[in-house]
Amino acid sequence: MIVIRPTQPEDAGSILHLAGAEPLFSKEEAETVAELLEAYLTQEDHDGYFFLSAMDEGKLLGFACFGPTPLTQGTFDLYWIAVSAAASGQGVGRALIARVEDEVRALGGRMIKLDTSGSAEYEPTRAFYHRIGYTHSATVPDFYAPGDDMVIFSHLLT
Ligand SMILES: CC(C)(COP(=O)(O)OP(=O)(O)OC[C@H]1O[C@@H](n2cnc3c(N)ncnc32)[C@H](O)[C@@H]1OP(=O)(O)O)[C@@H](O)C(=O)NCCC(=O)NCCS
Repeated sequence: MIVIRPTQPEDAGSILHLAGAEPLFSKEEAETVAELLEAYLTQEDHDGYFFLSAMDEGKLLGFACFGPTPLTQGTFDLYWIAVSAAASGQGVGRALIARVEDEVRALGGRMIKLDTSGSAEYEPTRAFYHRIGYTHSATVPDFYAPGDDMVIFSHLLT
């Protein structure tokens, strides 16, 4: 059974392994996950970063990282979400997002926003966000690199 819970220190190795093994994430992106995870685990206020782990009988299936967007009223950013290749397509991503939304509501948030790439490689990721009801709100052409747009999705919490 899939259980979503706040990330514990003992999950760190598996999260870093998952981020490092994810073909869509660059080395720099995987290193950013490591930095945010360190802040979450070591700083009392988590430095504004929250992590959730999706677990099945002690095995990490996926994780999500989110936090309040500075200088906004109740908007939160979904910074990272990843599900292991072995567990993909089984509802883990949807369950992680549902729990992120619950946590954001509990923290007084009203909107979730996320950025992703407009490249062909990220087409399945964009299809996932559409499928779970997120709105394609904007595109910033050539944001990440020439030919690599930033696609912004948002979702108002009810
Ligand atoms: C995107 C990702 C988190 C999705 O996680 P997942 O556990 O495979 O997704 P789920 O099984 O929960 O799918 C939820 C819904 O999205 C749909 N979906 C998932 N991938 C899809 C795809 N490639 N095309 C169309 N629909 C898709 C599922 O069919 C499901 O719909 P349903 O519940 O109505 O049947 C996962 O594929 C992943 O880690 N990708 C690589 C990393 C990444 O892109 N992270 C985001 C960076 S911005």
